[in-house]
Amino acid sequence: MRRGPVPHRLTRRTLLIGAASGGFTGLIAAPRMLEARDDGATLASLASAKGLVLGAAFAEHELDKPYGPAYAQAYVRNVNSITSELAFKMSALRPNANALNFEPADRTVAFARKHALKLRAHTLIWNDDLPAWIWQLGPGEIEQLLDTHIMTMMERYRADVWAWDVVNEPIAPWDKLPGNLRKGPFLSGLGEGYIARAFRQARRHDPNTLLVLNEAQTETADDNGRVFRDSLLALLRRLKAEAVPIDAIGLQAHLRSDRRYDYGLFSGFLDEIAALGYAIHITELDVNDVALPAAIDKRDTAVAEYYSKFLTTVLAHKAVTAVTFWELADHTSWLYYEHLGKVAQSHRRPRPLLLDQSFEKKPAWSAVAKALTAMTPR
Ligand code: XIL
Repeated sequence: MRRGPVPHRLTRRTLLIGAASGGFTGLIAAPRMLEARDDGATLASLASAKGLVLGAAFAEHELDKPYGPAYAQAYVRNVNSITSELAFKMSALRPNANALNFEPADRTVAFARKHALKLRAHTLIWNDDLPAWIWQLGPGEIEQLLDTHIMTMMERYRADVWAWDVVNEPIAPWDKLPGNLRKGPFLSGLGEGYIARAFRQARRHDPNTLLVLNEAQTETADDNGRVFRDSLLALLRRLKAEAVPIDAIGLQAHLRSDRRYDYGLFSGFLDEIAALGYAIHITELDVNDVALPAAIDKRDTAVAEYYSKFLTTVLAHKAVTAVTFWELADHTSWLYYEHLGKVAQSHRRPRPLLLDQSFEKKPAWSAVAKALTAMTPR
């Protein structure tokens, strides 16, 4: 039988690139120091006073924009942790089988160090957003990639990472597979066992850092939300029965103004996760304002209301120990970039976050401050 060429042959050597080179070559150990913070209350200080880890997704390339210094300052003022929005994804780290690009991740780590911010590394294993070459690997190669990737990342970054999103978005009901698991190379190569394997490998290489399973779309009151919640709980029970080392469950919380919410129902779901013994992190909170009035004052008020109701609900749960927004300012949101790509001329730009395009506080910022002030300490 004639075998065609394998376009991206994965060898043990290529898999081990980075692991073998090891070390913190791109990083200089900067002294931990805080830049001057506001004298008045900042979200970071309100959160710290309550023992809550408050964070935001951070994209290091934004530092290169004209507004880079203001972007940096917004993080220093408002959060005590950052999540890598892109830099720790395989799409950024492993553009092809023969190379590892640590530069964005190193830069993210350096920013966190410089400003004494905790770092959530997002994400180690995800069946989505993968470079094309990974989809072509066979089961043995996938297993080797999973093991090597986790080892490489943890050996390089574990001293700087506060929490790892070890597995991202394992559920996808539309793929119609057993357990409503999301299809992709890790599931095809290793079956459901890829999840347990990823966490066990992670624990082996980093006994001290929080290991998180992160999931989307569990918040809505509709059928989709119900299927996500039920499927996630069923998965967690199976993982628990196998004593898989998971510390926290991440719930993304990309809220949408065109969906229905029932926070009593959602609260019950949080109770069920907590009863299994996991901490809960809200990991990607933002508000898609697509169905809200065009008038900016009305829209901002409505967005603030979403934050208020959601945070009041989740912060009432002691199990919720961390809350992360998906970026801080409207014009650096993924929703904003997505919108610009589609309708560059539109004046109705998304306003999903806490700060506006000038990094000024919006009503959503005040709603968050109020919820932090009212919450009971962790
Ligand atoms: C998004 C980023 O925000 C975008 O910039 C990128 O183009 C695609 O990924 N769930 C996740 C995140 O777990 O990694 C996604 O981030 C948003 C949805």
